[in-house]
Amino acid sequence: MDISDISGIRKPYNTRSNVFLEKDINVKNPFDLFDKWFQEARSNPNIVEPNAMCLSTATRDGKPSARFMLCKGYGKEGFQFYTHYTSRKGQELEANPNAALTFFWPVLSKSVRIEGPVEKLPPSYAEDYFKTRPYQSQVGALCSNQSKVIESRECLVAKANQLKEKYKEGEVPKPESWGGFIVVPAVMEFWQGQTDRVHDRIKFRKLKEGEDVDNIITHPGEDNWIYERLQP
Ligand SMILES: Cc1cc2nc3c(=O)[nH]c(=O)nc-3n(C[C@H](O)[C@H](O)[C@H](O)COP(=O)(O)O)c2cc1C
Repeated sequence: MDISDISGIRKPYNTRSNVFLEKDINVKNPFDLFDKWFQEARSNPNIVEPNAMCLSTATRDGKPSARFMLCKGYGKEGFQFYTHYTSRKGQELEANPNAALTFFWPVLSKSVRIEGPVEKLPPSYAEDYFKTRPYQSQVGALCSNQSKVIESRECLVAKANQLKEKYKEGEVPKPESWGGFIVVPAVMEFWQGQTDRVHDRIKFRKLKEGEDVDNIITHPGEDNWIYERLQP
């Protein structure tokens, strides 16, 4: 096969997080644990976009696609992002309202995976958030028929310039089809890379009806969450 062999690329993981389980697993709620990790990522000057996450969607017949997004809010209700409802992801979520999110903070050797159903956020959320966006971002959103083909960059820039003529700062309307989604977690998995390459994986999921928590394999968390260790 005509491929570049990059199999030798291997970075050592740092040692700072070797006590992952003993310390962090005391946080028995996946949202609190996410918050702890996110704050760590956010305060690290080497992490440029701590809220960047890969959003995976699929068509109704299960063909997947993935792209990076910026998370714009998180909490017990879920993880929020904003986009064009008419984009490829928007259409896939319309047809199949389930998604997976993956955060990766390489300098911390940490990753979080989230899976669950997706809902549209109320339009007022998008209205309010759109107003807070910088002028360029507002124009960028308004000039883009996201995921559709266009013949050249010049055409795009011309569209943006026309809009800048038409709307001054503070006047750009939110595009009709631009809005928010929230992924409501059913599963949240925390991955901590370890120096010895025997990595930690702790998966939180909701207790199934009638399921026993044996405190050996499966451990009770808060709010009907349980957690268990997966092999790396
Ligand atoms: C770091 C990063 C953050 C991004 N954040 C967003 C975002 O918040 N919303 C968005 O619509 N696109 C965002 N994009 C662009 C998307 O990755 C993607 O190109 C676009 O949404 C079209 O995706 P689709 O055709 O699958 O719908 C981001 C790209 C990168 C690299």
